Amino acid sequence: MAQKMAWTGLGGTVALGLVLAGCAAQQMGGPSGKQLYLQNCASCHGESGRGDGPLADGLDRRPADLTRKPDIGEPFPTAHIMGYVHGYNRRDAPDEVMPQFGEDFEGQTVLYDIGDGILTPTPLPLIKVAEYVRTLQDEGGAEETPEP
Ligand code: HEC
Repeated sequence: MAQKMAWTGLGGTVALGLVLAGCAAQQMGGPSGKQLYLQNCASCHGESGRGDGPLADGLDRRPADLTRKPDIGEPFPTAHIMGYVHGYNRRDAPDEVMPQFGEDFEGQTVLYDIGDGILTPTPLPLIKVAEYVRTLQDEGGAEETPEP
């Protein structure tokens, strides 16, 4: 009897929110991070993320090289990338070349920890694309050099 009560309580907690950790986002519905990247980003940033897409030469500014940790910071700046892609952290930069994807990347919102320990409701496509950029980083980025 007591056991049954406990389960009922648990059920309520679980139903509160969908919590994501790490690469779980890629297993959820909709296009993958890779598909989103190839459709929306590769034309400028290149399939490899090095900033060498077919449109790159015609732009006023070179697309960022997304594979290099030194350029985009360390630890991997998931929040910065999500904000940049969405557009909310560059509303005051009218001369930017890169489009804002806030509206394109709306969709199912999940609770996501961007690394600060706080669960923030975040659109799933935005998480997927940021996690995909992270994989470009791991493959193409500078080798990890341990401190002496
Ligand atoms: C029309 C070309 C274009 C497209 C499409 C594009 N970008 Fe960019 N991106 C740029 C350029 C150019 C910059 C350099 C800063 C600027 O001018 O906005 C940039 C900068 C960035 C930065 C900032 C890096 C830093 O140093 O802060 C990130 C992250 C980024 N892009 C990711 C993406 C992702 C992910 C997508 C796809 C959802 C995407 N971009 C689509 C052209 C593009």
